Amino acid sequence: MIKFSPSVLASDYMRMGEDIARLERAGADWLHLDIMDGLFVPNISFGPALVKAVGAHSALPLDVHLMIVDPDRYVDAFAAAGAGYLTVHYEACQNPAGTLQRIRAAGMKAGVSLKPGTGPDVLAPLLPLCDLVLVMTVEPGFGGQKLIPHTLDKTARVREMLDAAHSPALLEVDGGITAGNAMDAVRAGARVLVMGTALFGSDRPQELMRQLREEATGL
Ligand code: DX5
Ligand code: ZN
Repeated sequence: MIKFSPSVLASDYMRMGEDIARLERAGADWLHLDIMDGLFVPNISFGPALVKAVGAHSALPLDVHLMIVDPDRYVDAFAAAGAGYLTVHYEACQNPAGTLQRIRAAGMKAGVSLKPGTGPDVLAPLLPLCDLVLVMTVEPGFGGQKLIPHTLDKTARVREMLDAAHSPALLEVDGGITAGNAMDAVRAGARVLVMGTALFGSDRPQELMRQLREEATGL
């Protein structure tokens, strides 16, 4: 069974509430919220106040993706804002294991994310500490990019590592996921699909998710 986590970065900010409600009605499972600080990535997005506002208007779990340096500084703020999953970048942490433990201690599910250039082996010691692994399928920073093909090989390798470790952690892919390549990601072992442009830009998101769920069941 796959889950869809639409990335709010691709919504129309002046109509965000309506856009989110539309995807919630269409069957989205989670909401993906991209937090960017202008340092870890070149772009700046939004912060805990927006996450809190979204949570007040949606019953869906909030899947918060921190693209910020030294994310420990904001663990408590995102817990207070209602994050369900809090994912940090391996590359942004001074002590990734410590950060993941801190996220769980704050009552959230802990996720770790890898940029396209980071090899999967760094995950090995972290697997017992995480509830989610997010493989970036584009360079983090912007929505609407094209998926980098070699990241699907990495996704498959991470799937093998999770299975070998009997880890229940969810495997999520993020960046450039479309109707055309979503099944490649699922075949590689992904179970949570972040989709920004593809879902917020779709006229028929319900049909799109229904069709992809059906294809995934047939794999
Ligand atoms: C990129 C973000 C993604 C992005 C995905 O740094 O992490 O979540 O919003 O958007 P699409 O699906 O448009 O590539
Ligand atoms: Zn993201």
